[in-house]
Amino acid sequence: MSKLENSSNKPTPNQQPDQLTNQAWGGRFSEAVDEFVARFTASVNFDQRLYRQDIQGSIAHARMLCEASVLTADERDQIIAGLADIAAQIESGEFAWSVALEDVHMNIEAALTDKIGIVGKKLHTGRSRNDQVATDIRLWLRDQIDEITPVLTRLQSGLIELAERESATIMPGFTHLQTAQPVTFGHHLLAWNEMLERDYSRLQDCRKRLNQCPLGAAALAGTTYPIDRHFTAQALAFDKPTENSLDSVSDRDFAIEFCAFASMLMTHLSRMSEELVLWTSAQFQFINLPDRFCTGSSIMPQKKNPDVPELVRGKTGRVNGHLIALLTLMKSQPLAYNKDNQEDKEPLFDTVDTVRDCLRAFADMIPAIESRKDMMLEAARRGFSTATDLADYLVRKGIAFRDSHEIVGKSVAYGLAENKDLSEMTLQELQQFSSEIGEDVFEVLTLEGSVAARDHLGGTAPSQVRAAAKRAAALIDER
Ligand code: ARG
Repeated sequence: MSKLENSSNKPTPNQQPDQLTNQAWGGRFSEAVDEFVARFTASVNFDQRLYRQDIQGSIAHARMLCEASVLTADERDQIIAGLADIAAQIESGEFAWSVALEDVHMNIEAALTDKIGIVGKKLHTGRSRNDQVATDIRLWLRDQIDEITPVLTRLQSGLIELAERESATIMPGFTHLQTAQPVTFGHHLLAWNEMLERDYSRLQDCRKRLNQCPLGAAALAGTTYPIDRHFTAQALAFDKPTENSLDSVSDRDFAIEFCAFASMLMTHLSRMSEELVLWTSAQFQFINLPDRFCTGSSIMPQKKNPDVPELVRGKTGRVNGHLIALLTLMKSQPLAYNKDNQEDKEPLFDTVDTVRDCLRAFADMIPAIESRKDMMLEAARRGFSTATDLADYLVRKGIAFRDSHEIVGKSVAYGLAENKDLSEMTLQELQQFSSEIGEDVFEVLTLEGSVAARDHLGGTAPSQVRAAAKRAAALIDER
């Protein structure tokens, strides 16, 4: 019978401590933890990723304890030197992580004690793993945000430059994926940039709210030592200490907020991907993606598949899943810390990794898009994309909009039967539908005339697109 199957949980007084009796909390335990339970409850296999922030937090804590006269300057210096050694050891791959020591925090603390002896055991004074881990994740996520932000900015810059180059390129604009009205390609690209600009602002917002220091909350209620929470907050470049000790150890809003930002960003990248996939297809042929962003088929020699956008679209699913995982993780937790919180890390880590890779793929790919202006123009010519322009023209001649809508509808039906675009009809043909139509109608029926006429803030006219690209670039320069 394994220990887990044993229903009796009576302590066995004579049990010898073995390697599964954890030094950090083994005192009140009379038997070693079950080997499976030790593995089940351990987080070191994934939370070792926090080692740098864990050491950074411990150094700040040790310095604060010295300021508060809880540690001597000599003890502080031994701790700092020991931790620096451990960091170097981890970085060189020499550090032996132990599942028996449960998590990154206890692995590092045990290594410190091995290294410097009894002084190492003083580091945890006035602290708990509960405020320690809350601090570590905030520090880690802040570092990740600071790495992701420039990649997002690089993507936006590439997009804005492409939009400027394509400010006068005409393509069909769609509603319901049916040709609606002509737009400029640059205008379409700047719509994408608006989505990303909002994502940028959400990311910075998330950073602002996470940048508070939970250290000092200890297990849940604070500590009896004369700590200086402002000292540690400042040492770790947080804006300020968190306000309430119970909230400090239990709050994971910042991780949820990041995942919400990430889900929204991925939703945007996925929508862009969907359009790139459509546009590279033989049916659209609006753009070329260079070969380096595509792969072939092992059976169909003619294939060039847009794998990068497809994969980004696909990865949106796991990021959305992580957001739901974190929300569900938190929804029933009573205050303050619960072991449930250990489950916050893997979804958060994977979200960060996925977002970083997807942003990088897009930042590399977007500037490499080659537009096929002839195909876009041809597509805009099909589908009666200037029908609204004709309706607006009739309104300017004094006809009520609903009546002009009806007149143009009939002209389109005629065009479908005769296989002619509105601009390809003669004046006589058009005049069958309204005697108000004159020679000047052909100015509004051209695609160039149609886009140029939408000449206002937010409109698709090439001059407006160039101005919008300038404003967007200026916002980036302010960052
Ligand atoms: N590994 C734990 C986590 O990730 C660290 C905090 C453990 N605290 C505790 N009281 N068991 O949340």
